[in-house]
Amino acid sequence: MNTMRWLEEGCLELLDQSKLPLEVTYLNCRDHFDVAAAIKRLAVRGAPAIGAAAAYGLVLGAMKIEVYHKEAFIAGVESIARELTATRPTAVNLRWAMDRLLKKLRSTATEDINELRAVLLAEANLIYREDITNNRKLGAYGQALIPVGARILTHCNAGALATAGYGTALGVIRAAHEAGKKISVYADETRPLLQGARLTTWEMLHARIPVTLITDNMAGYLMASGKVDLVIVGADRITANGDVANKIGTYSLAVLAQVHNLPFYVAAPLSTVDLDLASGEEIPIEERESVEVTHLDGRPVAPAGVKVWNPAFDVTPNRLITAIITERGVIRRPYLKNMQEVMSI
Ligand code: MRU
Repeated sequence: MNTMRWLEEGCLELLDQSKLPLEVTYLNCRDHFDVAAAIKRLAVRGAPAIGAAAAYGLVLGAMKIEVYHKEAFIAGVESIARELTATRPTAVNLRWAMDRLLKKLRSTATEDINELRAVLLAEANLIYREDITNNRKLGAYGQALIPVGARILTHCNAGALATAGYGTALGVIRAAHEAGKKISVYADETRPLLQGARLTTWEMLHARIPVTLITDNMAGYLMASGKVDLVIVGADRITANGDVANKIGTYSLAVLAQVHNLPFYVAAPLSTVDLDLASGEEIPIEERESVEVTHLDGRPVAPAGVKVWNPAFDVTPNRLITAIITERGVIRRPYLKNMQEVMSI
């Protein structure tokens, strides 16, 4: 199962995650508008997957820019990058991927537009491949922290589906499973869009990793009952001081983990770190449509017209985080110093 696949004729094939687990269907994106629409409606979702998909989206957009001069071409690509970046504001991997492609474009000496397009595609392929390699590396670092027989609680979906492959939080879980540690997983259903129920359990079942589904409001009692040993989640943005934005509900889990004295780990590639922001207060939090809360599978579960608040993410302060697992190793407190150090390697 691939989250996405670049087809040589100039098409990005995306697994439509909004239909999982009931239907395994693919979308063929032929221009950047298709990719932007897929990102907005969460057909592709998860911070690293959004970054890689947007990179290919920029390539598709660049293939359609009809100009003869390099400056005009770069201006066109910059404009498409802005459109793609605006699709989802919280996951920084999206902006990171756009910046990386634009930097590559600006530093390429050729004036030939077709060569520039090829350079963009090569860089998008690199982002895709590196994401898988990085997830395997952080999986190896992370699994060393997991005790034999650990019962692990996770939130949302930070798996192969949320990345180019293998996953971040679920990458650590996969690595621990592959190391024969006989771990088991509790998956929070993750309202409102049920990424835990629909996607994490689906991935775990495919990987034959024992998984138990709970609703979000069961996590506290699960911990109080002594049924879980640690929590591990992914991230959409990590600021310089180690604050972490992730799927709404992550903060509540971190508070609960502290009260119950359980380790709370965040697993993310360094493409998720935003050293431009000093703390989590500065992270833009996406607010989505009220229909995601008022309806389940198209059917209303609340009175028509009720007022709704629907932030898609929350921020977990660094003091609640035991460690951040990256492809360059495990980062612990003081995050401000240790994060800078790891980023500068
Ligand atoms: O709204 P989503 O489904 O894109 O949110 C995804 C998450 O919050 C993930 O936990 C995060 O992106 C990390 S994915 C490796």
